[in-house]
Amino acid sequence: MAEENVLQELEDALAKGLEDLKSVASEEALLAWRNQYLGKNTAITQAFQSLGKLSAEMRPQVGQAANRVKVALEAALAERSESIKESALAASIASEKLDVTLPGRPMTPGRLHPDTQMLRELYRVFGEMGFQVYRSREVETDEYNFQLLNFPVGHPARDMQDTYFVEAGERGDNPIVMRTHTSPGQVRSMREYAATNPENPPAIRLVLPGMCYRYEQTDARHETQFDQIEGIAVGEGITFSNLKATLSDLARRLFGQNVRTRFRASYFPFTEPSAEFDVECFLCGGKGCAVCGGGWLEIGGCGMVNPNVLRNGGYDPERYSGFAFGLGPQRIAMLRYGINDIRYFWENDLRFLEQF
Ligand code: PHE
Repeated sequence: MAEENVLQELEDALAKGLEDLKSVASEEALLAWRNQYLGKNTAITQAFQSLGKLSAEMRPQVGQAANRVKVALEAALAERSESIKESALAASIASEKLDVTLPGRPMTPGRLHPDTQMLRELYRVFGEMGFQVYRSREVETDEYNFQLLNFPVGHPARDMQDTYFVEAGERGDNPIVMRTHTSPGQVRSMREYAATNPENPPAIRLVLPGMCYRYEQTDARHETQFDQIEGIAVGEGITFSNLKATLSDLARRLFGQNVRTRFRASYFPFTEPSAEFDVECFLCGGKGCAVCGGGWLEIGGCGMVNPNVLRNGGYDPERYSGFAFGLGPQRIAMLRYGINDIRYFWENDLRFLEQF
């Protein structure tokens, strides 16, 4: 009699448990349900505890029934638990709101370095004037950096350009150097063009940009690393007037029609005659300030290509002439933007870079 009750109680527990489970909708309610039907004191645990007292024929029946009910309730629990989790997730997604009035997150787009911006503007302006960009190397030989430019070994003008040596010793009078100026590109480019037609080398009009290195004391206008943009025009009948016109035109295109410029006689071994090219400092109106010093800012050297250099480049100086110049794009940018110390350029300080 009591034995049949056990079986009935198991069936009732199963039916009631499944029925109750339908209305369970939260994690807490699920836990309570679990204690009630699968906990320590349930029809199932009672059935297992009673096994020892049962007759031999009832024992397997009750045992199997208790197991079946337990497995069925556990499976129903797992399924319910899963669906509660899913609907909780769906509810939290549904409750998320998009507030279109909130301020946006600030974007920090990258930008071009002021020197790169300056160079690109120079390429554009020189392009309009008919100059092509020619890239030459940063690591040079003494021969190209000095000898072919009319600085013989031991020439005192070498002292103007304190040189970084990459490799000396073994190479005797032709050590490897970091170029001290972009002028070695004059001979490299002339040689390349002359080689295309050695009897009648073509006329050229090039600008050669790039980094230069000098071992020198740094100050507001000098850095050990800086860039230059070299210009060279070689052809028949080129004169100093062409040089003056080109640089004056450049200054007007960069700084406006009314800018004042001046040429000062100077000396470079690879040009003859030579000059220094200055632009009036319009930061101070020519009165003299921290950027310019004395009212004028020197932005480069220039001159007529020395006959020896033309010859080294494969151009016959009896037939060809040419002019060359070397400008400091950073100096030009300093004037343009009122930057009063050249050392800002490579310091990578965002407070500086973000202003351009
Ligand atoms: N190379 C010279 C310098 O670095 C500048 C220059 C270039 C002068 C071309 C004349 C002609 O000072």
